[in-house]
Amino acid sequence: MTAEQQTAEAGRSRRDVFDTDTDFDSAADEPSRFDLVSEALRRDGVEILHYEPRFPVPGTKEENRVVRLIAGVFLLAGLASLAFVAVFIFWPWEYEHGGLDNPSKWYTPLLGITMGIAFLGVGVGVTLWAKKILPEEIAVQDRHDGPSAEDERQLTAASLAQMGEDSGLGRRPFLRNAILAGLAPLGLVAIVPLGALLKNPHGDGDPLLHTGFDRKNNGGKPVRLVHQDGEPIRPEDISVGGQLTVFPGIPGGATNKYADSPTLLIHLREADAAQARKSAIPENRGSQWGNYVAYSKVCTHVGCPPSLYEGQTNKLLCPCHQSQFLITDNAVPVFGPATRRLPQLPIELDDEGYFVAKSDYKEPIGPAFWERP
Ligand code: FES
Repeated sequence: MTAEQQTAEAGRSRRDVFDTDTDFDSAADEPSRFDLVSEALRRDGVEILHYEPRFPVPGTKEENRVVRLIAGVFLLAGLASLAFVAVFIFWPWEYEHGGLDNPSKWYTPLLGITMGIAFLGVGVGVTLWAKKILPEEIAVQDRHDGPSAEDERQLTAASLAQMGEDSGLGRRPFLRNAILAGLAPLGLVAIVPLGALLKNPHGDGDPLLHTGFDRKNNGGKPVRLVHQDGEPIRPEDISVGGQLTVFPGIPGGATNKYADSPTLLIHLREADAAQARKSAIPENRGSQWGNYVAYSKVCTHVGCPPSLYEGQTNKLLCPCHQSQFLITDNAVPVFGPATRRLPQLPIELDDEGYFVAKSDYKEPIGPAFWERP
């Protein structure tokens, strides 16, 4: 059959192929696969009104151009996926102060850009494929219920095989390989972030159990409680009933590097301080200095900063979900979703009269984690 005949054969309306009122005899007719497909559809109440391959004559320049275009788009998606993986693993991600000349500022945007290009590439590739390679087809179907007969299943199998051939992947290995090369790295995009779960959270100094107030951050000496600007704090800096957010007095102590360390230093009234001292549980005994107490400012619910201190009732309110902690009773939760008390930081004064931490917190701060319900 010549190319022109192929074109004419493929392009003619399939309404002419079968008379839908005539019984189909596969043995007698020796039909082609397309005929079987049409018959299968007819039995399903689907009639093909128009069917026309995009490239009836294979291997034309136009077809090759379209194949190269789609292959290029899928390969671009694959490269973007690999770039995502490379950025995720190798790009500096730890927060640092500074402008956009700081590479860490580009970590999240680069992840978004590379992942966006990857998904966009796959989307554009699939769309181009459907628009430029899959045959043009118009079919109508009457809906009906009921199971399919055995012969209809065979016809369906033939239909699926025809779809596979129509997709062009069988005779276009370059396109098929390009799609595989594009999609395989995209799978990595979904899997690679799970690699972060492989890291031992208790390795590297066990960060879940140490904050910036650990003496090892200060050459073994007690760590001062300081303002955000690093100024140390004396008792007279806080009036009675007042409170102050303090940070560990070490380099970077007020940065995200020590995001678990913000602490609320509270100056209790005389009677409230006595009550706090009296109700101290064993872990908290000796943590109070005079009328001053210091509690973690990381909520034990999901980590918001409870900082709304009501001096009259000595309750500390977390603004996120309204948990309330009673400061005169070991900061136990008395309202809201939090179920654990806030950890207390043991404090005292150093030789120069500034507040220091006697030790690090004695328990992990913040919300629960899998080993600490
Ligand atoms: Fe504090 Fe939810 S984070 S109540």
